Amino acid sequence: MSVRDIFRKRPVIALFLVALYPSIGWAAGREKLEEPPGLYAEHCASCHGKNGEGGKASPLDSTGHAWHHPDGQIFLWIRNGRYGPAQRMPGFENNLAPREICGLIALMKVWWNADQLESQRKAGESFSGQIFCRK
Ligand code: HEC
Repeated sequence: MSVRDIFRKRPVIALFLVALYPSIGWAAGREKLEEPPGLYAEHCASCHGKNGEGGKASPLDSTGHAWHHPDGQIFLWIRNGRYGPAQRMPGFENNLAPREICGLIALMKVWWNADQLESQRKAGESFSGQIFCRK
């Protein structure tokens, strides 16, 4: 059963895994994950790198800029797509359910350090889009 199947057929288990994922990162000493979850590999890695280190598009890990932005804003970018200086990021509205987008944001947080997580959380306090991913 692929990660995708788990999300489709066992949403409750999938949500549990997504909720657990950041703590797995912490437990592993925040090392790079051998195999990021299938959804990231399938939809994001080709542009943002296997572990968020960047490639055709900017990094999503701690070396990038994504952590400056609140969850709600990142959610909208992933759902609707966005323009970059060189190329466009497609929107994933038709490919990813909201809870899957929230799972991908949770994955990015595994890659950010404690200061970045704190600053990102503060940025979210004034952003109404925060309602998209419930804690
Ligand atoms: C076809 C290439 C492509 C794919 C696939 C892609 N992106 Fe992007 N993404 C971009 C581009 C281009 C930008 C905007 C410019 C840049 O950051 O390089 C961007 C920007 C972002 C940003 C904002 C980064 C910042 O520093 O502000 C996030 C977050 C992001 N993408 C997440 C994702 C996620 C999650 C996926 C998978 C669901 C994904 N992207 C798939 C090309 C892509």
